[in-house]
Amino acid sequence: MKELSQIALAVEPSTTMAIDSMFKQMKAEGLNVIGFGAGEPDFPTPDYIKEAGIHAIKNNETKYTPAAGTIELRKAICQRLKEDCGVEYEHTQVAVSNGAKPCVYVALRALVNPGDEVILPAPYWVSYIELIRMVGGVPVVVNASEAEQFKITPEKLAAAITPKTKCMILNNPSNPTGMMYSREELQALANICVEKDIYVISDEIYYRLVYDNKEFVSLPSLGEEIKERTLLINGVSKSYAMTGWRIGYVAANPKIAKVIANFLSHSTGSPCTISQKASSVALSASQDSIEAMRVAFEERRNYMVERMNQIEGVSCIKPEGAFYVMMNIEKLIGKEMFGTVIRDADDFGNLFLKYGKVAVVPGTGFAAPNFVRWSYATSMENIKEGLDRLEKFLAGQAV
Ligand SMILES: Cc1ncc(COP(=O)(O)O)c(C=O)c1O
Repeated sequence: MKELSQIALAVEPSTTMAIDSMFKQMKAEGLNVIGFGAGEPDFPTPDYIKEAGIHAIKNNETKYTPAAGTIELRKAICQRLKEDCGVEYEHTQVAVSNGAKPCVYVALRALVNPGDEVILPAPYWVSYIELIRMVGGVPVVVNASEAEQFKITPEKLAAAITPKTKCMILNNPSNPTGMMYSREELQALANICVEKDIYVISDEIYYRLVYDNKEFVSLPSLGEEIKERTLLINGVSKSYAMTGWRIGYVAANPKIAKVIANFLSHSTGSPCTISQKASSVALSASQDSIEAMRVAFEERRNYMVERMNQIEGVSCIKPEGAFYVMMNIEKLIGKEMFGTVIRDADDFGNLFLKYGKVAVVPGTGFAAPNFVRWSYATSMENIKEGLDRLEKFLAGQAV
């Protein structure tokens, strides 16, 4: 048979999914394992949102919609962006698709020609690097250390830009680090993007999960010139505990929005009608239940960070948003545990799962080989038990 597509063959499986499937297998075997790999809220979708979906089905709202989404949903998105982010779009500038992930893909598709460079700050969400490659782009990884709060500096950004640079992907607040750029930091990056005329795919999917009363700043709100160059990604998955409903969106200047709508019309077609209806309600109704989830995440983060920093051998900085903590395991590299020398986060992750019965995500896939990611999108009970197990494991006791 003939060879498959080289681009498709080069796509690596998601490392976050790999650990998750190992964890699920151990669970299915009846082992008492705890998972901290989840990239989704553990809360159920709020009832009023579920009701809206049920109502849509009963009301026969079950047919195709425009490929870029219903006008009702796109207007609800514009209203929410105006209220929450201080940024104004017409509904024609918004394209809805099946989650934020395909929106990142289609945004890259709209911008990138084969060989174009795409700047990617690291540690990065695993899917970005593969998505860049899937459109024939060349990832240019810019590393940000823990000492830099995992945030790239304007100097590093400027140094990475070449005549081939088409865009940057910025994830704020970040998966996997949970860190968030301040207004000043973001403005400094925006100035460079405008000056060098590069686009920014700004993935702001965690924008409502921000702690310590910190201000979230949406990139396109910083001025017309950066807004023109921004492809804003967001969705309902994380903020409304709606990961399975598969609704995300991209907002951009009219020319880009049209290209994206055309692309979607021939590829995915319209997003799920029922999910669109439920998402309109999620975005338009009172946001109180969303706030309750945010408060719960903040309590869990506080506990996890405090406990982790009391445990000998590991440490973490305090994330400002999302629901992830990056645990620093530098001190464990080169040490022997349970008969194995730990070379990197993969070794640590495998050993911790086998002997500690805890699943975390090795930072190797995020370009952070001395870190592992803990998600606190799980119960406080699990978090306490997980950290107890970490203590035992590091003391050389198997669970
Ligand atoms: C940074 C980031 N962007 C996008 C997504 C995907 O969102 P969705 O489930 O809406 O496709 C995720 C999910 O983990 C994420 O962490």
